[in-house]
Amino acid sequence: MEYIKRILITGGCGFIGNQFVRKLVNEHKDWLIVNVDILSYAGVADNLKDIEEEENYRFEYGDVKDEFFLSMVFANYAITDVIHMAAESHVDNSISAPMEFLFNNTVGTVTLLESARQYWTHAGGGLEGHKFYYFSTDEVFGALDADGESFTEDSKIKPNSPYSASKASADLFCNAYIKTYGMPIVISHMCNAIGPYQLPEKLVPATIERILNDEPIIVYDKGEQVREWIYIDDVLDAAMTVFEKGVPGEAYNIGSGEETQNIMLVMKIIAMVCMRMYSDYKRYEQGYQDAKDKIKYVENARPGHDFRYSINHDKITKELGWKPKVGLDEAISKTVDWYYNNWDWVESIKSGEYKKNNEKYMDGLVC
Ligand code: DAU
Repeated sequence: MEYIKRILITGGCGFIGNQFVRKLVNEHKDWLIVNVDILSYAGVADNLKDIEEEENYRFEYGDVKDEFFLSMVFANYAITDVIHMAAESHVDNSISAPMEFLFNNTVGTVTLLESARQYWTHAGGGLEGHKFYYFSTDEVFGALDADGESFTEDSKIKPNSPYSASKASADLFCNAYIKTYGMPIVISHMCNAIGPYQLPEKLVPATIERILNDEPIIVYDKGEQVREWIYIDDVLDAAMTVFEKGVPGEAYNIGSGEETQNIMLVMKIIAMVCMRMYSDYKRYEQGYQDAKDKIKYVENARPGHDFRYSINHDKITKELGWKPKVGLDEAISKTVDWYYNNWDWVESIKSGEYKKNNEKYMDGLVC
């Protein structure tokens, strides 16, 4: 089959990555989707079991820091476009192991940028007509106080954690590649995502898991920090919009307008989990109270904890016609449903079983 695009997507076995790969593969049969993933602890190969036999899907096990491996992937598939989603993404891990974030997020992005530039310049007919989409985060803009103006695309890059610094550094390299080489790069900065397949190291799935296991529900500091939450279906539509319609050289914010304090989010999750656990109202009330009593406030769990993120997404709405559709309550409800009905997925993550399955995919096919 003659594909009109041959896309290299990185991190396709991760939380957002696997759901975006599925969307690309299912909705664009005339695009070849090549998923490059190193299957670190955050990559779950089995997430994509349902589509791995699809004609327009390929998996390549490898590292975005490996220039030789990337050059083989570019040449073998005559890659036309890149969607770079792979990243170390957990702030707490970046505090205990900052170098991992520097290497994987910053060096990895620069290696991928350079591999794309070299291939497109020398074998891909020049840079024009290609696209490199770098999926970044609102955390590069630093933190706001309670009444601070939402981040726009022009806000200063002012990261606070090793995670956000590593993503921001990659942002700066993207800007340098745009200015210096005219690389056709689009960047998006997104708020906190909520939905299926997120590892239970993050607040939402961790809270669901702790309630269901009757464990203490950990809230950092007093739970007053504010995050903006976007449901995965909106994330996928926004990412598709940026990839298809985003103007090279431009950045777009992806947000929902749904800001809430962590403690309010945790209370809503408790209510929604308990509604599913108890059909009888009296038992629900008791279950809700018991779970609330299990909230444990932990001071200084995250040194330098950013107080608030808030993102202005007017530009993507006005210029590319995307807007969010799912409100926060619906997003929490759908997410709780998924975890409730896919508990075996959580068990496989917690027990490490998924790592055994990952090993089956760890053969270098290209090289
Ligand atoms: O803003 C976008 C970012 O959202 C992404 O770029 C990151 O990759 C993603 O991890 C997320 O970052 P956060 O640090 O905001 O997400 P996390 O789920 O780790 O924490 C959300 C908030 O909840 C944060 O204020 C810390 C707090 N928290 C977190 C955990 C894991 C708790 O109170 N208890 C917890 O157990």
